[in-house]
Formats: sequence, C-alpha cells, structure tokens
Amino acid sequence: MKPRAKKLIYAFIPLTIRKWLAILINRQTWLDSDKRGWWATQIIVDFAEKDVSSYHKFLWRHHLSYAESYETNLRFGYDNLNETRKFFLSDLVEHLKKQGINPESEIKSVLDVGCSLGYLLRYIETDVFPNASVLDGNDIDKYTIEQGKEFLASCKSKANLIHADMEALENIIGDKKYDVVFGAGILLYLKQDQANKLVAKMMNHTSTMLAFTGLAHPDLDNAKLETSVTRESDKTWIHNIDKMITDAGGKIVARRWEGNKMVDGNTIYFVFAVPAQSLR
Ligand SMILES: C[S@@+](CC[C@H](N)C(=O)[O-])C[C@H]1O[C@@H](n2cnc3c(N)ncnc32)[C@H](O)[C@@H]1O
Repeated sequence: MKPRAKKLIYAFIPLTIRKWLAILINRQTWLDSDKRGWWATQIIVDFAEKDVSSYHKFLWRHHLSYAESYETNLRFGYDNLNETRKFFLSDLVEHLKKQGINPESEIKSVLDVGCSLGYLLRYIETDVFPNASVLDGNDIDKYTIEQGKEFLASCKSKANLIHADMEALENIIGDKKYDVVFGAGILLYLKQDQANKLVAKMMNHTSTMLAFTGLAHPDLDNAKLETSVTRESDKTWIHNIDKMITDAGGKIVARRWEGNKMVDGNTIYFVFAVPAQSLR
C-alpha cells in the first residue's frame, strides 16, 4: 500500500473500525492467506506504534497474521516441531537431571504458558515426561485452543487447554504449583514491565524448574541488556530474561544464547531456573 494511501486510511477510518475490518478481511477464505494476512495487518500498522503489546494481543486473539500458521496438521507430531523447541526440551531434560531429578518418573505436572494448540504439551506427554498426569496450557487464541482441544481429545491426551490471557494467569490456575512451568516464544509480545510481572507470576507457580525461550539479541548476550529493546521487523521485544528471573527470586541453573544464529526461523536464547527454595 502506498504511504499516502495508508496515511489517508489511518486519518479517515478510526482504528476501532479498522480492527473490525482486519478481522473481516481475515475471514475471507476465498482470498489467498498471505494476502489476507498482509491486508489485515497493513490497515492497523499504526496500532503497533500506539500500543505495541495490545497490537500483538489483538493479532493473536483473533488468529490474524503470524497466528495463521498454527493449525493442527502443521504443528502436531515430532517432525512438525520447530527445531529450537526440540533443543529447548532436550536441554530442559538435561538440566533437570543435573539437579538430581529423574524427568521420566519425577515430573508429574507441567504448565505451558502460551501453549497455542498444545503440540508441545502432547510431545511432552508422550516423550518427555511420560509420568506427568497434569499437563495444563493456556492461550489467548481461542481458535487454536478449540482446534487443539479437539485434536488432543481424539488422541485421548491428558493435556488440558484453557482459553485465557497469560497476564491473568492467576485467575485460571489460582495458587496451583507445577513441577515444570515454561513459556516458549511468549515474552517477546510483552513490554518489559509486563514481562517482568509474568516471569514473577510463573515463578510463584513453579516447584522444580521454570524455563523460557526468548528472542536472542543478535550482538549482545541478552544477560547484558540493561533494558529491553524492540526488533523492528515485527515490533517484538528482546528481553533480559536472566534478570527478570533473578529479580523474581529465582536462581538460574543453565542458559543458552546463540546471538544472530537462526535455526528453523528462530533465534536461540534459553534460560532455566529453579525457585530459590527448591534448590536440592
Ligand atoms: C510464537 S507462538 C509460540 C507458541 C508455542 N508456545 C511454541 O513455542 O510453539 C506465541 C503464542 O503465545 C500466545 N500468546 C500471545 N499473547 C498471549 C497472551 N497475552 N496470553 C496468552 N497467550 C498469548 C499466542 O496466541 C501464541 O500461541
């Protein structure tokens, strides 16, 4: 879209109406999905400039733009998992073992924050923590929660998906604690103060290990960042998750930062922590 046309659209059509238009455009399945996604986001780009976290929340909530690739046939199954998530889960197992925990028998409960369709939970259930009887996940994208639930029921999975905003985590899980709590690719959609709060909340619900994957800063180890910075291409956030964890009272037991290296479309920045009181 030409910059002048964009300016006119932004000036004459209020954002509230353009948000509804974006949802409407996205429902036009006769249009090519790339085109739908492009138009749906182009007409609300100014929203990201005004309030970037609400913009991401809006896109995920309505399954727009980048959310479109989250479909059961594209995401469930080992071969469909993103390579970096495979690294992450195998690192998680290794670091639990280093803490003297047997992941196969001792991990009984898991919480996946921002779980999408629940494909990581399903893989965890079958291959990572086979003794886990509680596999909870939440996501703001109602479409993926509904599709995921249907798929998981068809394979008699124990995974339990809840449609909820991660910023209101306490409303859905109360004071429940889980052996393992993790968030893969979620903090990048929150501003620093919001991400800080979420990390602290997740820490409160962890009894054994809390783990995150985040966007890696391309040049500087994230642990050295004094403040979060945005990735211009998609207005997501690069955080110092290490600091967020230690500020929340956790102890980092392992981490991995691989700078600008891209694997299967993702960067690598993992942090594994234990709540101070759970150190063995
Ligand atoms: C990049 S995807 C990652 C999905 C999955 N965790 C993974 O590692 O493949 C980000 C996920 O976070 C979810 N999400 C974004 N903002 C959220 C929020 N405020 N509350 C709950 N889920 C959210 C999205 O709907 C999406 O499923």
